[in-house]
Amino acid sequence: MAVITFANAKGGAGKTTAALILSTELARQGNKVVVLDADPQRWITRWSEVSGHVANLEVISHITPASLPCHIRELKDEADFIVIDLAGAKDAIVALALGLSDQVLIPVQGCAMDAQGAVQILELIRHLEQKATVRIKHSVVLTRVNSLVTTRALQTIKTLLASRGVAMLETPIVERAAYREIFECGGTLQTMDTGRVSNLDKARENALALAQEVQALLPARPQRSWASRAPSWAQLRAA
Ligand SMILES: Nc1ncnc2c1ncn2[C@@H]1O[C@H](COP(=O)(O)OP(=O)(O)OP(=O)(O)O)[C@@H](O)[C@H]1O
Ligand SMILES: [Mg+2]
Repeated sequence: MAVITFANAKGGAGKTTAALILSTELARQGNKVVVLDADPQRWITRWSEVSGHVANLEVISHITPASLPCHIRELKDEADFIVIDLAGAKDAIVALALGLSDQVLIPVQGCAMDAQGAVQILELIRHLEQKATVRIKHSVVLTRVNSLVTTRALQTIKTLLASRGVAMLETPIVERAAYREIFECGGTLQTMDTGRVSNLDKARENALALAQEVQALLPARPQRSWASRAPSWAQLRAA
């Protein structure tokens, strides 16, 4: 079981969209995925209500700082992936989720406000790592990227971030109509009507590349078992 959290202290950075695209793709591949919806806007919960049953995917809402560790503990044997969608904030539940994650993904759209929200999360991660002496693996993921942007331009951003000690995924999440439509029509990129949205095949390819890269970042069996992290909750809460 691996816990993947999407965080950016700025609202509207693309967390919920990225969380749903990744979760549905991991579920499509046959993994058991549980989304913990800690976004007060509850978009993934609403998507789930519109969708009805989606194979291998469950959504749990109304996540609180008290319930989050309990859900992770209860799910550790049955879920392959727990994906946490957070509010655009820097509060107790964000800090707790970061500390319990095997991988934190920080979506950034490239605007200054977004980058500021990302910096706040990066600072919080450093603070938690120092306070609780844990290592929190994290990467920036570029999102709403224009499909015409060149690999070279992306490489330049990656190099810039790397010079500041921040990793970035090779796979950007491209701006796609399908990623907006999925919340409207429910279901997955596979069940979506190809006549309804343009470039659906490209959206599916992008989701596949994202899921493959994220899975490659995770140990086959998480090295730190969740239980071994338990003693640090109190420290994380206090931090
Ligand atoms: N890759 C994408 N392609 C097209 N639209 C996108 C993409 N990513 C995000 N959006 C759109 O951008 C807006 C904000 O995205 P989203 O709700 O995912 O952000 P968020 O970080 O979860 O926001 P909040 O902090 O308010 O929870 C939404 O209208 C969403 O449809
Ligand atoms: Mg959201």
